[in-house]
Amino acid sequence: MKVLITGGLGFIGVNFTKFFLGKYKNDELVIVDKLTYAANKKMLDQFKNFSTFSFYKGDISDYSFLEKVFRKEKFDYVINFAAETSVDKSFMDEATFFETNVLGVINLATLCLKYNVKRLHQVSTDEIYGDLDVSSDYYFKETDSFNPKNPYALSKAQAEEFLMMYHKVHGLNVTISRSTNNFGKYQASDKLIPLVINRALNNMEIPVFGDGKNVRDWIYVLDHCKAIDLIIKNGKSGEAYNVSSHEPHQNLELIKFILQKMRKKESLIKFVEDRKIHDRKYAVDTSKIEKELGYRHDYDFEYAIDLTIDYYRGK
Ligand SMILES: NC(=O)c1ccc[n+]([C@@H]2O[C@H](COP(=O)([O-])OP(=O)(O)OC[C@H]3O[C@@H](n4cnc5c(N)ncnc54)[C@H](O)[C@@H]3O)[C@@H](O)[C@H]2O)c1
Repeated sequence: MKVLITGGLGFIGVNFTKFFLGKYKNDELVIVDKLTYAANKKMLDQFKNFSTFSFYKGDISDYSFLEKVFRKEKFDYVINFAAETSVDKSFMDEATFFETNVLGVINLATLCLKYNVKRLHQVSTDEIYGDLDVSSDYYFKETDSFNPKNPYALSKAQAEEFLMMYHKVHGLNVTISRSTNNFGKYQASDKLIPLVINRALNNMEIPVFGDGKNVRDWIYVLDHCKAIDLIIKNGKSGEAYNVSSHEPHQNLELIKFILQKMRKKESLIKFVEDRKIHDRKYAVDTSKIEKELGYRHDYDFEYAIDLTIDYYRGK
């Protein structure tokens, strides 16, 4: 079996690649990655030690580049992690987000059809549903409509709509995962948890947007990788699956928790002006993946936070 992982040097892509190379020793794995600021370029050397691994530097929005790779490699499965993922950047550079997150996905879908790929899996996000009031006890279901609140989420929602159209019209075999916020090793330092840990390690101020009461639901990255693997193998074509380990935390409480674990003072926290649009709360219902595919997360939240702190400490 030969698998293409696009964006395989990003945070989740690297974790998934390590998971895949460890679990499926006889399968071939190819990464296509543009090597943006978010890529973990050092991991390439580690992956190149595997005889089953190969790499192409390139952009998924470049159809002719991508077609050369598809024609040569003849993939069985394609898993798309490649994306522009910074919500803040998405308000300043909508075009790049559209090119990678929408056009790139259209290219992948077109080539999966043309080269008879068995399944395309799109790694999507719970942000496509929009947000909830902090006091709400609602959980978004896969059947809920999309209500994205930022250009990043909009581009991910549009990609899903194109994929479902390709599924209905052309019979594209496609599955989609909609995960909550990931944390763990190899995440870019502009994201909340690595930012807090790195700044705390250096006794630097930790900025908190607004009142810090926004709620994010966290999942350890390896639990997300496990869910993706399960969906690719057993998920139904044309279906989306919410993924979460149900760890909702207010940003401020989470930051205080990390500081306490690192034995650092809360006085490092500095409140800063809120983003113009800042989703208040995300929450997803995961009964579909649990009932249909038997998914359960493995990692205890506190243990996974300890692992993550140790990683950024260099332990
Ligand atoms: N991180 C999260 O909390 C989270 C949660 C839910 C869903 N997701 C989704 O998971 C996927 C991976 O997220 P991440 O946090 O690992 O992202 P990331 O920003 O860490 O990595 C993205 C990777 O994609 C590559 N890339 C960007 N544009 C590309 C292009 N045009 N062509 C080829 N490669 C390109 C980058 O070089 C990088 O290696 C994304 O699709 C994201 O929407 C992430």
